[in-house]
Amino acid sequence: MAMHVRPVLAANWKMNNGPTAAAAFLDVFLAKHGACDDRTIILFPPALTLAAVQAGLAGRADIGVGVQNIHAEEKGAYTGESSAAIAVDAGATYVLVGHSERRHVFGETDDETARKCARAVQHGLTAVLCVGEKIEQREASETEAVVLRQLQAGLSALAPDAIRAIIIAYEPVWAIGTGRTATPDDAAAVHRVIRAALCELVGDDGHAIPILYGGSVTPANVAALLAADEVDGVLVGGASLDPLGWAAICAA
Ligand code: 13P
Repeated sequence: MAMHVRPVLAANWKMNNGPTAAAAFLDVFLAKHGACDDRTIILFPPALTLAAVQAGLAGRADIGVGVQNIHAEEKGAYTGESSAAIAVDAGATYVLVGHSERRHVFGETDDETARKCARAVQHGLTAVLCVGEKIEQREASETEAVVLRQLQAGLSALAPDAIRAIIIAYEPVWAIGTGRTATPDDAAAVHRVIRAALCELVGDDGHAIPILYGGSVTPANVAALLAADEVDGVLVGGASLDPLGWAAICAA
């Protein structure tokens, strides 16, 4: 069953762009990118840059903002962390959960991604659950097993209605920041597996859950990736730091 999913173009700035750089970015980006209502555009700045992005976006309700991480607990003695409630209070409506750098640099577990997704939903944040295999897992033909494990674990604490409201991002670790993009066929193959798993969980509504591809997306390759089967959008790191390049990706 083919269902139209509104394309999602999401920028993960990672640990780049402080408030000053973000304001300069938005001056250029917003001048180039006029409001359009046929796609969802989301910026994920560093938490300390969120307020500057909110200020820079004033009057541009067509662009959403999110945080790159939340803590799984509601509140308390977790020095250096931010909760879902704090993210909402600061103006975020989206949150990345289980990004590969959280998993592989900071040791985040499947259990934590499940608890973070649940906490996000509890506070009305739209979670973007990130999944993806490492190169050695791909070479050992474990891609499907790894992605399904991460997907099922991450969604395990959610009721079906909460799963219907989620966004998934498939980001093969070997393609992140490497310039080595998955081919549209590579992406489509994994996206089909994710789609089938989502439909098992929530029936035909699984066709309407956006599945984004991430990993060395650029203005040059974005159109081909978006045209691939079951690819509903992109999650972009490096190429989202150039305001004109990001505008080109948003126009794809
Ligand atoms: P790059 O686009 O820099 O490969 O990063 C992808 C990513 O991790 C987005 O979350």
